[in-house]
Amino acid sequence: MQPFLISPSLLSCDFARLASEVARVEDAGADWLHVDVMDGHFVPNLTIGPPVVEALSKVARRPLDVHLMITDPLKYAPHYAKAGAHVLTFHVEVAGSAAGCREVIRAFRSEGVPQVGISLNPDTPVERVFDVLDEVDLVLVMSVFPGFGGQKFLPDVLGKVRALRERGFERHIEMDGGLNAATLPLCAEAGTNVFVAGSAIFGASDMHATIQGFRASAASARPAARA
Ligand code: DX5
Ligand code: ZN
Repeated sequence: MQPFLISPSLLSCDFARLASEVARVEDAGADWLHVDVMDGHFVPNLTIGPPVVEALSKVARRPLDVHLMITDPLKYAPHYAKAGAHVLTFHVEVAGSAAGCREVIRAFRSEGVPQVGISLNPDTPVERVFDVLDEVDLVLVMSVFPGFGGQKFLPDVLGKVRALRERGFERHIEMDGGLNAATLPLCAEAGTNVFVAGSAIFGASDMHATIQGFRASAASARPAARA
């Protein structure tokens, strides 16, 4: 069984103080650091590019969990790999067919990325990733439409997590968007083991207590815990 991992989204941190925000969230118990890369094409927002990821990798003590919300992952993969991405995730919507996905996955691996992820928007059927499950380390299920932090969790996507576990997918399943103390246990109960949270962590008055609370509530909600 995969461990629970908390991956705070830096999208909600103070960008003028990146290094100290990274240290603050690591000291508070973050397992990974979620980095939202947006290109203004795949999503209507523009955020972080390779130079900033490289700067982050120099100060981070935790793995960088890089979420590419970009139209052309093949073109930019070498830059993000070289910049220090530990997990590199692309969207199935931009890769098209299973063959297109395989091409991206193999390109990421040939760049030496340690873990490769594939992501689905809320309105993309989970079946779209079935044919490549044996080639990825992680499936990132979006629980909001990507582009912005602070949106409301869409509970319908929980069925995708269940479908992946029922199909026997045993690697990481990550949920991203609208996670907080109320929604995170639902994700854990469905079989999610990696939890992204931006506003709920960076907006918390006690970041350490929030992360520990997330970990504890995930553990008590996990299906096996009820056995
Ligand atoms: C949305 C991003 C998320 C976002 C989550 O496009 O992929 O990672 O930062 O933010 P919250 O936790 O505030 O919904
Ligand atoms: Zn994200």
